[in-house]
Amino acid sequence: MGTWLEPQDGDLDVLEGKQALVLGYGNQGRAFALNLRDSGLFENVRVWVRPGGPSYSRAESDGFEVVDETDLGTSDLLLCLLPDAVHEEVLGRLVEPRLRASGRRAGLCVAHGFSLVSSSLGERVRRAPWGDVVLVAPVAPGEEVRSAFLEGRGVPAYVGVWRDESGEALRLARALGHALGFSRAGMLKASIRDEVVVDLFGEQAVVCGGVEWLVRRAFDTLVQAGYSPEMAFLECVHQLKYLAELVHRNGLEGMRDRVSEVAYYGALTRGPRVIDSQVARTMAEILDEIESGAFQKELQSIEVRELSTRREGEDGLIERTGREVRERIFRGNRHHV
Ligand SMILES: NC(=O)c1ccc[n+]([C@@H]2O[C@H](COP(=O)([O-])OP(=O)(O)OC[C@H]3O[C@@H](n4cnc5c(N)ncnc54)[C@H](OP(=O)(O)O)[C@@H]3O)[C@@H](O)[C@H]2O)c1
Repeated sequence: MGTWLEPQDGDLDVLEGKQALVLGYGNQGRAFALNLRDSGLFENVRVWVRPGGPSYSRAESDGFEVVDETDLGTSDLLLCLLPDAVHEEVLGRLVEPRLRASGRRAGLCVAHGFSLVSSSLGERVRRAPWGDVVLVAPVAPGEEVRSAFLEGRGVPAYVGVWRDESGEALRLARALGHALGFSRAGMLKASIRDEVVVDLFGEQAVVCGGVEWLVRRAFDTLVQAGYSPEMAFLECVHQLKYLAELVHRNGLEGMRDRVSEVAYYGALTRGPRVIDSQVARTMAEILDEIESGAFQKELQSIEVRELSTRREGEDGLIERTGREVRERIFRGNRHHV
């Protein structure tokens, strides 16, 4: 069983007088920066983004001091919310020399352990000028991290330690999780390696890869059998949101209790035929590729965004139908508010 971490007396003391510097102002960067600032637990929260990009003006208009490269060595706590593929480059090439020059030692927090376990960054941050290196990984997109915080809620998060230089790294991780609002929902203790493996596996097998291909295959099956793309889209893609919400709120059994008897029976008898033992074997292979590092190695040799652009053109029907259906639903709903 996992271990849920509760904030302990004195945890927040480790944040006292700390200046936080958030690197990146995208999905998670914006949510982290705003939540940390609103927590009131830091001396100040500043942001670094590359100049000229869309994040720059957004961070400024949210009222942050946006520092430039020369200020990268002036904080004692860095939160790296950049895409995983650029962590090593930015922390190693831009931040580290400036920390050395300033004589500071900086703690580091990441929201996903990928760059620590899959690049030389992991070894590099085990030495000065780095201090404690921790993981605080929300299990939710940035928008939800922020909106939950504003509503007095939180999202669950994995919390862990990569390097305990001060002997207080777990305290730091818990305090950060608390400041970000995650202790309201639950902070699960995790090793960095486990967080990376389960995150990659979950997104490949279920939430991104598995679900996407399940709905694509189902959509194609109906369309190839002569049913309209609109009906195929409504049944196999559009409905997913409602079912996901039922599962999110009530669990799998709770979801089944809330659908019709026909749907319940179909789910019990046809579900395991669709997701059969061959799928389970494939999932085990995929887990093995992640655990062995083969997936991570493959990723390093690929330009990911080029692949996704090429694919979009190939499967136009489901996308085109989706756009039309969404446009119609949103237009109709707007007239009724
Ligand atoms: N997205 C999620 O749901 C999620 C959930 C949990 C954990 N995480 C983790 O959170 C971290 C951040 O992910 P994210 O999805 O928030 O990232 P993201 O939105 O893709 O990050 C975009 C930010 O990074 C900047 N950036 C991009 N490439 C850069 C480069 N080469 N040099 C300097 N800055 C660059 C962008 O600046 P410009 O505007 O100038 O391009 C922007 O400020 C990752 O470690 C990720 O694994 C994400």
